[in-house]
Amino acid sequence: MIIAIDGPAASGKGTLGKRLATHYGLRHLDTGLLYRAVAKALLDAGHSPNNQARAVAAADAIDPASFDEGALKSHAVGEAASLVSAIPDVRAALLAFQRSFAARPPGAVLDGRDIGTVICPNADVKIFVTATAQVRAHRRLLEFQRRGEPVDEAAVLADILRRDERDMSRAAAPLKQAADAHMLDTTELNADAAFAQAAELVERVRRR
Ligand code: C5P
Repeated sequence: MIIAIDGPAASGKGTLGKRLATHYGLRHLDTGLLYRAVAKALLDAGHSPNNQARAVAAADAIDPASFDEGALKSHAVGEAASLVSAIPDVRAALLAFQRSFAARPPGAVLDGRDIGTVICPNADVKIFVTATAQVRAHRRLLEFQRRGEPVDEAAVLADILRRDERDMSRAAAPLKQAADAHMLDTTELNADAAFAQAAELVERVRRR
């Protein structure tokens, strides 16, 4: 079984993806980490996230087995990831890894921006997770605070709005709901309630 979860920044798709994977005994891939790893490699080497040749070389060289999730989740890396992810050759370089991850038995939950539209168009279940920008900014703020990263809520909201706009308007694999995806609005749902609704969707598909 392949479950594709897409949605804007801080919509809750990562938490949901992990829980669904654990519940159904599937592997889980947070595909945002791939773009973040490319961005971090560029930043660490002192290159601009807009340097296409360096970004493609970094995408070709990434090693997901050695990811340090804590370092990849920083605010600066997220911003740079949204720039490198708009480069079509970077996306192309990361495509095969994502598809083969999804295809390996017993299947997987992948979360990102283009899983239901580009990476796994034949996924068994597609969920498009969303929430208002204000709620998402607040969640992201709590995440940064937990990590001890000082950030201001208004700045986080501005970043989220800018990132959404960039992710939705880029030419290469823009963020959009697949025609056959189920929308899950988590504005008023906590993680448990979001998981319960998503699991219900999965069960409906499994019964078919
Ligand atoms: O989900 P996360 O915030 O970790 O993603 C970081 C950035 O990577 C996003 O802003 C987006 O630009 C990019 N991304 C993408 N396609 C994916 C996953 C993430 O373009 N499948």
